[in-house]
Amino acid sequence: MCGIVGYTGPQSAITPLIEGLRRLEYRGYDSAGIALGTPDRLYIEKRAGKLVNLENALGESLPEVHSGIGHTRWATHGGPTDRNAHPHVDNEGKLAVIHNGIIENYTQLRADLESRGHRFDSDTDTESVAHLLSDLRKKHGGDLSAAMREAVASLRGSFTLLAIHADQPEVIVGVRRNSPLVVGLGVGENFMASDVAAFIDYTKRAVELGQDEVVTISPSGISITNLDGAPLQPKEYAITWDSSAAQKGGFNHFMLKEIFEQPKAVADTLLGRLNDRNQIVLDELHLTKEDIQGLKKIVVLACGTAFHAGMLAKYAIEKWAKISVEVELASEFRYRDPLIDSNTLVIAISQSGETMDTLMALRHAKASGARILAVCNTNSSTIPRESDAVLYTHAGPEIAVASTKAFLTQVIAVYLIGLHLAQLRGVMSDLEVKSVFDEMVELPGKIEQILETVEPLRELTRGFAQSTSVLFLGRNVGFPVALEGALKLKELAYMHAEGFAGGELKHGPIALIEEGTPVIAILPVGHEHGLDEKMLSNVQEVKARGAKVIVIAQEGAEVTGAEHVIRIPIAPAIFQPILATVPLQVFAYEMAVTRGNDVDQPRNLAKSVTVE
Ligand code: AGP
Repeated sequence: MCGIVGYTGPQSAITPLIEGLRRLEYRGYDSAGIALGTPDRLYIEKRAGKLVNLENALGESLPEVHSGIGHTRWATHGGPTDRNAHPHVDNEGKLAVIHNGIIENYTQLRADLESRGHRFDSDTDTESVAHLLSDLRKKHGGDLSAAMREAVASLRGSFTLLAIHADQPEVIVGVRRNSPLVVGLGVGENFMASDVAAFIDYTKRAVELGQDEVVTISPSGISITNLDGAPLQPKEYAITWDSSAAQKGGFNHFMLKEIFEQPKAVADTLLGRLNDRNQIVLDELHLTKEDIQGLKKIVVLACGTAFHAGMLAKYAIEKWAKISVEVELASEFRYRDPLIDSNTLVIAISQSGETMDTLMALRHAKASGARILAVCNTNSSTIPRESDAVLYTHAGPEIAVASTKAFLTQVIAVYLIGLHLAQLRGVMSDLEVKSVFDEMVELPGKIEQILETVEPLRELTRGFAQSTSVLFLGRNVGFPVALEGALKLKELAYMHAEGFAGGELKHGPIALIEEGTPVIAILPVGHEHGLDEKMLSNVQEVKARGAKVIVIAQEGAEVTGAEHVIRIPIAPAIFQPILATVPLQVFAYEMAVTRGNDVDQPRNLAKSVTVE
């Protein structure tokens, strides 16, 4: 995934472009570059590495120009080098293109263009578009918008493109297919970007773009057409959060800020969700009793952390609504023959709403007749727009690549869906639903309690900084927590970590245990199946083989065999994941800090992976 930004207006373009790229760096940070709309020949600067490398290269002697495009990259085709950085230009240096996504047929395109005399400078798929647009613009008498429309018709893949030409430097043309692009409407100035965060300091008026829509912006206005050139009416919306939400708020890292925002994020996601008749209010689902009566199963599609939220959806929805739930890795789903039909409800969980694996799986399910419900944290992103209904979590913008508050609110959202379905199916009474909801309303305060006691945990974590591997054990709803704790540690500390179902330990993984191996065990809570005792047996088994055991356990729970016990407030078993995950987030955060890693932008990662 990459970050793209465009500006045209009375300001010196360099400021909104660089500031915009800074806000988008979470989308990818292998390299960065800009093209400034200087007449005759564009001013191009681009550097491998973080945005700061580009800023250092720009220096002071910049031309005074009022339009341009900028890009921060997560490399797909071509390594993260200066010459593979975007923008890419035609051979005359008059047309520049930046791109988010993948051009799948670029090899053939490049061969055709080279046969027509174009000289290539990079290894990227994007450069083919620069040369193609250059030819087509000449064919269309200098009309860059018409050139873009014809170019897109010959491209395969997922992409958002922005282009600028030195002959009309105040005009910027963009197009989106599967990857995000929003327009910012200013006064005498206009913006384009992958995410509203890039221009929110300048305007809160945004226009969303649909699939294969071509947008042309200039200081005086914008126009949108389809690929045939037919004009389309811009769909304007107001951006509801402000730029302070996208700042660190005094924390050293966005991730720590977002961990501490979790009580509010959970509270906001619960706000107004139970009416005075003890009914769950999820009107946006547009699900009637009849819709639900016909429902045969639910399939959850997601990736990474969102997949772990999906695993918890299974426990809750089957427990409360008595509907069968399958949880699928989105990247695997459509490559088998999934049994999906009009009696299937698909729940697509995605923080960004742009994860290509999840989007493509959703499309496959939709084509098979399923009804699609998105659980998403990003307003007007692609996945909600392609779903039949959406339940927005209210975590606010999540900037850190490692997902924290979005995860907790995804769990809350799927729990609300479970209660709603249970009520519609008449398998839970209103009073039973109220009783469960009242427990959920207590969770923000309990998360707060955990956050007030993180310092000892942060100190404990530093003692494990030299470890080469950490194992996480959980049972029942603690198993997805173990997986999530392991994922956090992998992506932040670059450390091997693995989550296991406690019962699986004896079927192989226990061979991993050696003297000093750190093991974190999530102790289930007062479970009728005696899982507590079974988990404590697991603790003894690994301890007997030299493991150093940290147990996450509720207040008052009896714990034997652990080196360290991290206590969390008491809550019903189904809500334990919301609480037990928080210490694991802090553990991974502190490990990353201790190891000197880039906490908010870990290596090789991006906030949303918009390629398959
Ligand atoms: C979570 O910490 C990771 N950054 C990653 O696993 C993420 O959850 C996954 O890529 C899905 O992203 P989405 O929720 O935006 O679809």
